[in-house]
Amino acid sequence: MNKTLSPIGIFDSGIGGTSILKEIHQLLPQENIIYLADSKNAPYGYKTKEEITQLCIKNTELLINKGCKIIVVACNTATTNSIDYLRKKYPIPFIGIEPAIKPAALNSKNNTVGILATKGTLSSELFTKTSELFTKNTEVVEVIGAGLVEAIEAGKLNEESTTQLLKKLLQPMLDRNIDYLVLGCSHYPYLIPLLKQILPKHIIIIDSGQAVARQTKNILKSTSLLNTQQKKASIDFYTNRSIDILQKFVPKQTVQFLDF
Ligand code: SIN
Repeated sequence: MNKTLSPIGIFDSGIGGTSILKEIHQLLPQENIIYLADSKNAPYGYKTKEEITQLCIKNTELLINKGCKIIVVACNTATTNSIDYLRKKYPIPFIGIEPAIKPAALNSKNNTVGILATKGTLSSELFTKTSELFTKNTEVVEVIGAGLVEAIEAGKLNEESTTQLLKKLLQPMLDRNIDYLVLGCSHYPYLIPLLKQILPKHIIIIDSGQAVARQTKNILKSTSLLNTQQKKASIDFYTNRSIDILQKFVPKQTVQFLDF
Protein backbone atom coordinates (compact mmCIF):
# COMPACT_ATOMS: atom_id res chain seq x y z
CA MET A 1 0.00 0.00 0.00
CA ASN A 2 1.18 3.56 -0.80
CA LYS A 3 1.70 5.02 2.69
CA THR A 4 1.77 8.63 1.39
CA LEU A 5 -2.00 8.35 0.78
CA SER A 6 -2.66 7.50 4.43
CA PRO A 7 -4.26 10.25 6.51
CA ILE A 8 -2.70 12.71 8.91
CA GLY A 9 -4.26 12.11 12.34
CA ILE A 10 -5.03 15.13 14.50
CA PHE A 11 -6.43 15.05 18.01
CA ASP A 12 -7.36 17.61 20.62
CA SER A 13 -9.27 17.77 23.88
CA GLY A 14 -12.14 19.19 21.83
CA ILE A 15 -12.75 21.66 19.05
CA GLY A 16 -9.61 23.81 19.53
CA GLY A 17 -7.43 21.68 17.26
CA THR A 18 -9.63 22.61 14.30
CA SER A 19 -7.70 25.92 14.32
CA ILE A 20 -4.56 23.84 13.62
CA LEU A 21 -6.35 21.60 11.12
CA LYS A 22 -7.33 24.67 9.06
CA GLU A 23 -3.67 25.75 8.82
CA ILE A 24 -2.55 22.23 7.86
CA HIS A 25 -5.28 21.88 5.23
CA GLN A 26 -4.39 25.26 3.76
CA LEU A 27 -0.69 24.36 3.46
CA LEU A 28 -1.25 20.72 2.45
CA PRO A 29 -4.61 20.65 0.62
CA GLN A 30 -3.89 17.23 -0.94
CA GLU A 31 -3.49 15.46 2.42
CA ASN A 32 -6.27 13.26 3.84
CA ILE A 33 -6.99 14.05 7.49
CA ILE A 34 -8.79 12.40 10.40
CA TYR A 35 -9.68 14.72 13.29
CA LEU A 36 -10.65 13.52 16.77
CA ALA A 37 -12.37 15.91 19.19
CA ASP A 38 -12.18 14.36 22.65
CA SER A 39 -14.78 16.85 23.93
CA LYS A 40 -16.16 14.29 26.39
CA ASN A 41 -12.92 14.69 28.36
CA ALA A 42 -12.40 18.45 27.89
CA PRO A 43 -10.78 20.35 29.40
CA TYR A 44 -7.47 18.49 29.72
CA GLY A 45 -5.93 21.54 31.40
CA TYR A 46 -6.93 20.59 34.97
CA LYS A 47 -6.03 16.90 34.74
CA THR A 48 -2.87 15.25 36.07
CA LYS A 49 0.00 14.37 33.75
CA GLU A 50 -0.90 10.66 34.11
CA GLU A 51 -4.56 11.28 33.19
CA ILE A 52 -3.56 13.39 30.17
CA THR A 53 -1.13 10.69 28.98
CA GLN A 54 -3.84 7.99 29.26
CA LEU A 55 -6.19 10.11 27.12
CA CYS A 56 -3.39 10.68 24.59
CA ILE A 57 -2.77 6.92 24.38
CA LYS A 58 -6.47 6.28 23.73
CA ASN A 59 -6.60 8.93 20.96
CA THR A 60 -3.30 7.82 19.41
CA GLU A 61 -4.27 4.15 19.23
CA LEU A 62 -7.57 5.02 17.57
CA LEU A 63 -5.76 7.10 14.93
CA ILE A 64 -3.12 4.41 14.36
CA ASN A 65 -5.89 1.81 13.95
CA LYS A 66 -7.44 4.09 11.33
CA GLY A 67 -4.14 3.94 9.42
CA CYS A 68 -2.70 7.40 10.14
CA LYS A 69 0.88 7.98 8.96
CA ILE A 70 1.67 10.84 11.34
CA ILE A 71 -0.09 12.31 14.39
CA VAL A 72 -0.48 15.97 15.24
CA VAL A 73 -1.13 16.53 18.93
CA ALA A 74 -3.13 19.72 18.40
CA CYS A 75 -3.42 20.50 22.10
CA ASN A 76 -0.80 22.40 24.08
CA THR A 77 -1.66 20.64 27.33
CA ALA A 78 -1.32 17.19 25.75
CA THR A 79 1.91 18.13 23.96
CA THR A 80 3.67 19.64 26.94
CA ASN A 81 2.72 16.75 29.23
CA SER A 82 2.75 13.66 27.04
CA ILE A 83 4.46 13.99 23.64
CA ASP A 84 7.80 12.62 24.87
CA TYR A 85 6.01 9.49 26.10
CA LEU A 86 4.11 9.07 22.80
CA ARG A 87 7.28 9.47 20.74
CA LYS A 88 8.99 6.72 22.73
CA LYS A 89 6.00 4.34 22.65
CA TYR A 90 4.82 4.49 19.01
CA PRO A 91 6.87 4.08 15.81
CA ILE A 92 5.30 6.96 13.87
CA PRO A 93 6.18 10.69 13.83
CA PHE A 94 4.39 13.04 16.24
CA ILE A 95 4.07 16.81 15.81
CA GLY A 96 3.23 18.85 18.89
CA ILE A 97 2.11 22.37 19.62
CA GLU A 98 3.96 24.53 22.10
CA PRO A 99 3.36 28.18 23.02
CA ALA A 100 5.23 30.48 20.58
CA ILE A 101 7.22 32.04 23.39
CA LYS A 102 10.51 32.30 21.46
CA PRO A 103 9.38 34.73 18.70
CA ALA A 104 7.50 36.80 21.28
CA ALA A 105 10.54 37.13 23.57
CA LEU A 106 12.89 37.86 20.65
CA ASN A 107 10.69 40.62 19.22
CA SER A 108 9.30 42.26 22.35
CA LYS A 109 10.38 45.91 22.62
CA ASN A 110 9.26 46.21 26.24
CA ASN A 111 10.91 42.90 27.11
CA THR A 112 7.58 41.93 28.62
CA VAL A 113 5.32 39.27 27.11
CA GLY A 114 2.09 37.70 28.25
CA ILE A 115 1.21 34.05 27.94
CA LEU A 116 -2.29 32.71 28.27
CA ALA A 117 -2.46 28.91 28.63
CA THR A 118 -3.96 26.16 30.74
CA LYS A 119 -2.78 25.19 34.20
CA GLY A 120 -1.54 21.89 32.73
CA THR A 121 0.62 23.65 30.14
CA LEU A 122 2.07 26.33 32.42
CA SER A 123 2.97 23.79 35.12
CA SER A 124 4.59 21.31 32.72
CA GLU A 125 8.30 20.58 32.68
CA LEU A 126 8.53 21.08 28.90
CA PHE A 127 6.99 24.55 29.08
CA THR A 128 9.18 25.58 32.02
CA LYS A 129 12.33 24.46 30.18
CA THR A 130 11.37 26.24 26.93
CA SER A 131 10.42 29.38 28.79
CA GLU A 132 13.70 29.45 30.74
CA LEU A 133 15.68 28.92 27.56
CA PHE A 134 14.19 31.77 25.55
CA THR A 135 13.21 34.39 28.11
CA LYS A 136 16.41 35.14 30.00
CA ASN A 137 16.04 38.91 29.48
CA THR A 138 12.28 38.99 29.24
CA GLU A 139 9.59 39.27 31.87
CA VAL A 140 6.89 36.67 31.23
CA VAL A 141 3.43 37.32 32.65
CA GLU A 142 1.80 33.89 32.83
CA VAL A 143 -1.97 33.70 33.22
CA ILE A 144 -4.06 30.52 33.46
CA GLY A 145 -7.03 30.88 31.10
CA ALA A 146 -9.44 29.45 33.68
CA GLY A 147 -12.88 28.99 32.15
CA LEU A 148 -11.90 29.85 28.56
CA VAL A 149 -11.85 26.31 27.11
CA GLU A 150 -15.24 25.66 28.69
CA ALA A 151 -16.66 28.88 27.15
CA ILE A 152 -15.26 28.03 23.70
CA GLU A 153 -16.46 24.41 23.84
CA ALA A 154 -19.92 25.82 24.68
CA GLY A 155 -19.70 28.04 21.58
CA LYS A 156 -19.80 31.25 23.64
CA LEU A 157 -17.44 33.19 21.38
CA ASN A 158 -19.35 36.46 21.29
CA GLU A 159 -21.05 36.54 24.65
CA GLU A 160 -20.68 39.27 27.23
CA SER A 161 -19.70 36.70 29.88
CA THR A 162 -16.68 35.68 27.74
CA THR A 163 -15.68 39.33 27.19
CA GLN A 164 -15.81 39.99 30.94
CA LEU A 165 -13.83 36.83 31.72
CA LEU A 166 -11.13 37.76 29.19
CA LYS A 167 -10.90 41.33 30.53
CA LYS A 168 -10.33 39.96 34.02
CA LEU A 169 -7.69 37.46 32.85
CA LEU A 170 -5.80 40.01 30.73
CA GLN A 171 -5.67 42.78 33.34
CA PRO A 172 -2.44 41.57 35.05
CA MET A 173 -0.77 41.55 31.62
CA LEU A 174 -1.98 45.06 30.79
CA ASP A 175 -0.80 46.26 34.21
CA ARG A 176 2.74 45.06 33.29
CA ASN A 177 2.62 46.67 29.82
CA ILE A 178 3.10 43.58 27.65
CA ASP A 179 3.55 44.13 23.91
CA TYR A 180 3.12 40.47 22.86
CA LEU A 181 0.37 38.07 23.85
CA VAL A 182 1.16 34.40 23.24
CA LEU A 183 -1.87 32.13 22.89
CA GLY A 184 -0.74 28.86 24.49
CA CYS A 185 -3.84 26.76 23.84
CA SER A 186 -5.18 25.63 20.48
CA HIS A 187 -8.71 26.69 21.53
CA TYR A 188 -7.75 30.33 22.02
CA PRO A 189 -7.33 31.44 18.35
CA TYR A 190 -11.15 31.38 18.24
CA LEU A 191 -11.03 34.28 20.72
CA ILE A 192 -8.84 36.50 18.49
CA PRO A 193 -11.76 38.70 17.26
CA LEU A 194 -12.74 39.34 20.89
CA LEU A 195 -9.11 39.85 21.97
CA LYS A 196 -8.64 42.46 19.24
CA GLN A 197 -11.61 44.40 20.63
CA ILE A 198 -10.26 44.29 24.17
CA LEU A 199 -6.50 44.79 23.74
CA PRO A 200 -4.75 48.05 22.83
CA LYS A 201 -3.80 48.04 19.12
CA HIS A 202 -0.03 47.83 19.69
CA ILE A 203 -0.19 44.42 21.38
CA ILE A 204 0.68 41.65 18.94
CA ILE A 205 -1.15 38.36 19.33
CA ILE A 206 0.65 35.19 18.26
CA ASP A 207 -0.38 31.58 18.08
CA SER A 208 1.42 28.48 16.82
CA GLY A 209 -0.95 27.24 14.08
CA GLN A 210 1.13 28.14 11.01
CA ALA A 211 4.36 26.91 12.61
CA VAL A 212 2.72 23.53 13.34
CA ALA A 213 1.53 23.27 9.72
CA ARG A 214 5.05 24.06 8.40
CA GLN A 215 6.59 21.52 10.78
CA THR A 216 4.07 18.87 9.66
CA LYS A 217 5.04 19.48 6.03
CA ASN A 218 8.77 19.32 6.84
CA ILE A 219 8.46 16.03 8.72
CA LEU A 220 6.27 14.45 6.02
CA LYS A 221 8.86 15.47 3.43
CA SER A 222 11.86 14.23 5.39
CA THR A 223 10.18 10.87 6.09
CA SER A 224 9.00 10.47 2.45
CA LEU A 225 5.37 10.50 3.60
CA LEU A 226 4.22 13.64 1.75
CA ASN A 227 1.16 13.01 -0.45
CA THR A 228 2.10 14.55 -3.80
CA GLN A 229 -1.03 13.40 -5.61
CA GLN A 230 -3.08 16.38 -6.78
CA LYS A 231 -6.43 14.93 -5.81
CA LYS A 232 -9.16 16.28 -3.55
CA ALA A 233 -8.48 15.27 0.04
CA SER A 234 -10.96 13.69 2.44
CA ILE A 235 -11.34 15.08 5.94
CA ASP A 236 -13.16 12.99 8.55
CA PHE A 237 -14.28 14.60 11.79
CA TYR A 238 -15.16 12.50 14.84
CA THR A 239 -16.42 13.72 18.20
CA ASN A 240 -17.36 11.78 21.32
CA ARG A 241 -19.78 14.50 22.45
CA SER A 242 -22.38 16.64 20.71
CA ILE A 243 -21.99 16.75 16.92
CA ASP A 244 -23.53 20.25 16.95
CA ILE A 245 -20.63 21.73 18.95
CA LEU A 246 -17.93 20.59 16.50
CA GLN A 247 -20.16 21.30 13.49
CA LYS A 248 -20.30 25.02 14.41
CA PHE A 249 -16.52 25.24 13.95
CA VAL A 250 -16.44 23.28 10.66
CA PRO A 251 -19.80 24.20 9.12
CA LYS A 252 -19.09 22.80 5.65
CA GLN A 253 -17.84 19.39 6.81
CA THR A 254 -19.56 16.19 7.88
CA VAL A 255 -19.10 15.44 11.57
CA GLN A 256 -19.66 11.95 12.94
CA PHE A 257 -20.24 10.72 16.48
CA LEU A 258 -17.83 8.04 17.71
CA ASP A 259 -17.73 6.64 21.24
CA PHE A 260 -14.01 6.71 22.03
C1 SIN B 1 -7.64 21.98 27.49
O1 SIN B 1 -8.21 20.95 27.11
O2 SIN B 1 -7.66 22.30 28.70
C2 SIN B 1 -6.93 22.91 26.55
C3 SIN B 1 -6.28 22.34 25.38
C4 SIN B 1 -4.93 22.99 25.08
O3 SIN B 1 -4.13 23.19 25.98
O4 SIN B 1 -4.64 23.29 23.89
